[in-house]
Parts: sequence; C-alpha cells; structure tokens
Amino acid sequence: MAGANTNAHIPSVGHDGVVVSWITALQWVFGGAPSLLTAGYAKYKSRLFRVANLDHWVVLVSGRMIEELRKMPEDVASFLEAADDFMQSTYTHKRCLLENPFHVRVVQQQLTKHLPELCDAVFDEMAYSFAAEIPLSDGDLAGWHDVTVLPTIQNIIARVSTRVLVGPALARNPEYIKIAINFTLDVVIRARVINFFPNLLKPLAGRLSMLIPSVMDKGFSILEPVIAGQKLARNAPTLETEAMEPNCDLLNWLIDEAPPEDCSDRTIATLLMNLNLAAIYSTSMVCTHILYNLVSWPEYIEPIRAEISECTGRHGWTKLAFNDMVLLDSFMKESVRHNGGSAYSGIRKLKRPVRFEDGTDLPAGTFLAVAAAPTHLDEQLYPNSRTFDGYRFQKLRENSLDAGAQHSMVAVNNDFLVFGLGKHRQYFHPGRFFAVLEMKATLAYLLMHYDVVLPSQTRPKDRWVGESCIPDPNAR
Ligand code: HEM
Repeated sequence: MAGANTNAHIPSVGHDGVVVSWITALQWVFGGAPSLLTAGYAKYKSRLFRVANLDHWVVLVSGRMIEELRKMPEDVASFLEAADDFMQSTYTHKRCLLENPFHVRVVQQQLTKHLPELCDAVFDEMAYSFAAEIPLSDGDLAGWHDVTVLPTIQNIIARVSTRVLVGPALARNPEYIKIAINFTLDVVIRARVINFFPNLLKPLAGRLSMLIPSVMDKGFSILEPVIAGQKLARNAPTLETEAMEPNCDLLNWLIDEAPPEDCSDRTIATLLMNLNLAAIYSTSMVCTHILYNLVSWPEYIEPIRAEISECTGRHGWTKLAFNDMVLLDSFMKESVRHNGGSAYSGIRKLKRPVRFEDGTDLPAGTFLAVAAAPTHLDEQLYPNSRTFDGYRFQKLRENSLDAGAQHSMVAVNNDFLVFGLGKHRQYFHPGRFFAVLEMKATLAYLLMHYDVVLPSQTRPKDRWVGESCIPDPNAR
C-alpha cells in the first residue's frame, strides 16, 4: 500500500495488510469512499479510524473529536501541508513558491466586504453568461433548449468568478475561461500521477511532470499582460482611465496588498490561478448538485420563485435580497447535506506528534480528515436524516431564538463541514460568502428566466471518484 502503515494501533475499515490494503485503496478510488466512511462512522464514531488511500493512509475524525482537531493550530495540524501533499502543489500549481499567501486574506477581507458593491457586476455577467449559454429564442420562453448541465454551469460560474477576480476583459475571453475551468483537472491529474510514485521518487516525478506544458503556463501568458497593464494604468493614469469607475475586482486588491518584495506579475498571476483552483471547481460542482435536486423535487420551484420575487421586489437584485432568501438558502444547504462535494473535509497533516483526549497518539506526518458525508447523514444531528426536506433549515431558523444564522448555508460548524473545519490560521473558510452569493444568484437568475425540466424524471446519478462526489456530467 502507498506509504508506511504507521498507525497500526488505530482500527481500520477495509483491508489492513501492506499488500491487501491496495484492494481498499482501489475500492476507495472506484466509488467505494462513501460506503467505507459510513461503515467506519457506524462502528467508530467519536473514535479515530483509518482507511487506505492510494498514496497514504487517512485517519478519520468524527463526532466529538472534530472539535479537538478544529482547535489544533496550523503549526500542529496543517491544512497547507495536507493540501500541498494532496495536490503536489510544488509541482502542479506552484503554491509553495508563495511564502506569503496573502490572497487568502484578500478573499476573506476585501472580497467579502465588497460583496454588496459587486452584486451589479455579478448580475451583469450572469445575464451575459446565461444569454451566451442558453439563449432565449427571440427573447421569449417558447423554445426549449437541450443543455448539458454541468459544463453549462461550469462556464457560467467561471465567467462570473473571473469577472469578480480579474475584471470584465477576461470574463469574456473564451480562451481564458477554458483555462480557468481546465486548470483544476490538470492539477488533479498531475497530482494523482506524482502521488502514485513512492515518496523517494516523488520529487523526480514532480520535476519531470513540470517539463510537460501546463494549463497554468497558458494562464500566465494571458494573465501577466493584464496585470502589467493594470499596474501601468494605476501608476500612470490617463484622462481616460481617470474618468472611469475605480476597478472593483480582486486583482486590484491583490496589487494593493502585495508586499513590495513579492509583487511581481508572476506572483499575482500565481495567486489568481490558485484562486481559480479553489473557487471555480467546487462552486460549479455544488451548484449543479443543487440544481439536480431542484428539478428532482419540482414542488420547491414555485415557493422558491415566490421568495425570489418577494425579496428582489423589496430590495432589488442586491445582497440584501439574497440574505433574505431563507428558503433558497435552506434548500441549498439540504442539497449539500445530501450531495456534498466531498466525502471527507478538513484535511490536515500533523507537523508534530499529537495525543487526543482519549489517549490516542498520532505521529507527525499523519494525514487526517473529518468524515463529512456520514456526519451530514447522522440521525442524531439531523432527524430523518435520509429524507430530503428543503424546508429543514428554514424551520430551524424560524424556531431559533436568535436570527438563526447558525442554520444558514455560510455557517461553519462541526455538524456542517462542506466549507471545511472552520477556524484555522485565525479564520473560517475565506470564500464562502462569495460562493453562496454566486450560487444563489445563478439559481435565482435561472428560475426567474427559464423553466427547467429533466427529461429523465429521476435525479441524475452522482459519480464517486475517490472522495469526490461528482454530479452526472452528461445529464441534460
Ligand atoms: C461551494 C463552493 C466551495 C466549497 C464547497 C469550498 C470548500 C473548501 C474547503 C473544504 C476548503 C478547505 C478548508 C479547510 O479544510 O478548513 C477550502 C479552502 C479554500 N477555499 Fe473554498 N470552497 C468553495 C468556494 C470557494 C470560493 C468561491 C473561493 C474564493 C473566492 C474559495 C477560496 C478558498 C481558499 C482561498 C481556500 C484555502 C484556505 C486556506 O488556505 O486557508 N473557495 N474550500
């Protein structure tokens, strides 16, 4: 099995032996992840258990132990090191070159703070993207369009995200949009190939992989001139640029916040490509899952439309209106509870040995994750957990004494793990407010301008690849 079996004192699910654990690792890759985690959770909830993956053993955390992991600081249980191992960032997307990943702070602070002003840009791009992807015949709703859902949602999310991250020019550049979408797949494939090699050979495999032209290099060739142009316009404003509205996009905030010693066009382009990786893939997958649920339970469509009408009637298409869309929020959260993007979440790698409160010791180098999918279906946390109830979180909000914010989609806690484990490195998931706004805007725009039906009548079947739950890519 890939990687030494260093934690033999922890119970495992699946096969345990050095050779036979390959069977479990392959089972994990080919659709077995949810059943392996469910079996482990049923037997070992609130205790640690292990499962073999192709490149390492993962120790799963659940129940009350989640809080212990959550409290461990980055220099003990590191998200960055886990992500670096998992994605082989040194070779696949140069994240390790970034000594100071200030883009995370920029997303968390600037992007979130400016969401109200960004709504106009989001809507402008949303309207443009929908018109390009699903044209309304002569402006009426008479004609049906046969659309492959996942790539359509990916294109819309990529365009809207690019508008917010880099600005309007690249949002409408088809070559860049293709790069922004394909980058994740390129990174994942490269990382999988490198991770297939034993630890000793990974650096060699990684360096060799860098000889193959990458999607990231193509991204640099488009992004760098745009960044250079932006810096020039800021440093030497012309009458024309001075008359224009100040740019409200992440690229500008990155230029503002870049430390003088680390502000090259290449650094900024690397950060933007890293953000494409973080933002576009997960948001389009999750949004497609939600849409599949919406068309599979069409009885929710009219109440949600009525809510959208009411909220936009009161506040216009603004952030305030989206905040008030409690039923849409509840439906989205329930969808994600059932069809989250990943079987596990909150990946961490131990930088030093750790003893959990129950006395279990884990050595440095251990790869940990939280058993998210079975937590989301735990009967104690979610009564009738297997029943889809789009009103579930709306009811919880109405019945709570405060405004019920802890039941909203952006709330991060130990029972709802889609956005990771919560606070680490002093902040919660940085992009979740934007992600939820973008998904609400996409779904609201769709519902208010189109009718949607699934010819198959039944929900398109999810595909599990390793821990990733991918919505059917061919459903129309
Ligand atoms: C539905 C959409 C999304 C999901 C499900 C998602 C999920 C996640 C998860 C699970 C993590 C790991 C966090 C942890 O383990 O504690 C993560 C990290 C991250 N996400 Fe997202 N994400 C989404 C959208 C976005 C968007 C739209 C952005 C940016 C605009 C973003 C930016 C980031 C960044 C920068 C990190 C790394 C944080 C760090 O380095 O500490 N994400 N995301």
